[in-house]
Amino acid sequence: MVVSTSSAGTSGSMADTQKAIGPIVLLGPPGAGKGTQAKRIAEHYGVPQVSTGDILRANVASGTELGKKAKAIMESGNLVPDELLFGMVAERVKQPDAARGYILDGFPRTLAQAEWLDKFLQNQQDAPLPPVVADIQVSYNELLGRLTGRRTCPTCGRIYNVHLSPPKVDELCDVDGSKLVTRKDDEESVIAERLKAYERQTAPLTGYYQSSGRLHVLDGSRPIDEVTAQAFKVLEQARKK
Ligand code: AP5
Repeated sequence: MVVSTSSAGTSGSMADTQKAIGPIVLLGPPGAGKGTQAKRIAEHYGVPQVSTGDILRANVASGTELGKKAKAIMESGNLVPDELLFGMVAERVKQPDAARGYILDGFPRTLAQAEWLDKFLQNQQDAPLPPVVADIQVSYNELLGRLTGRRTCPTCGRIYNVHLSPPKVDELCDVDGSKLVTRKDDEESVIAERLKAYERQTAPLTGYYQSSGRLHVLDGSRPIDEVTAQAFKVLEQARKK
């Protein structure tokens, strides 16, 4: 199984990159900006971004058993079965680079996954900090524009948008010059399925976290830097308590 992920974004101070920040969960529909913000928060605190979508795509590209099981499901816009996610996430967050914390991008996204995560964290030997959960909210129409315009660098993972945040040179990454790629599931018919899956299976998670007083809402319609500033504020306040 392939479990590595990439990160790129804003650098934090020496103190920030030594802090224990614990697990951070980014919720939000497809296109809300989870990946964009996860990279920035990860870079700032010097902790890994754990994107279940990226890990699954890496497994599909490498043709692992997990990738073979996930490929068709992902290409149809549906969610991969919970059982395939648990071992994958557990293995990734137990790695030494995640000892001070990690950003969960795209996990949990069903109630069963959220319950699994709570139990998993409670059962860890060095009881970690409770997760800080941030829900990035964006309107449906804005999501459609973002997803159809998204391009990703296959080398460094940086995310662009041909309408909203284009690269300096058409279709090439600003950082390493790689040719940008469009994700297979960013075709319009698949986007519609992903948004339906979100409404059906993931949106109820906000109630789960709200009822236990753990939900923080970010206005994801604001410019990228402003959303990052909101995220830092939420994290700093949550970890002061
Ligand atoms: P995954 O890779 O997690 O995709 P997703 O949830 O659909 O989310 P996206 O990556 O599409 O969007 P994002 O919120 O990260 O937005 P981004 O930052 O890129 O999952 C893919 C598939 O894998 C799933 O469909 C499922 O099959 C499977 N899977 C993954 N996890 C699973 C799980 N836990 N359980 C079961 N199955 C699972 O931004 C989007 C665009 O908007 C970019 O172009 C960006 O530049 C732009 N943008 C971002 N923020 C802003 C802003 N503030 N203003 C303007 N533009 C912005």
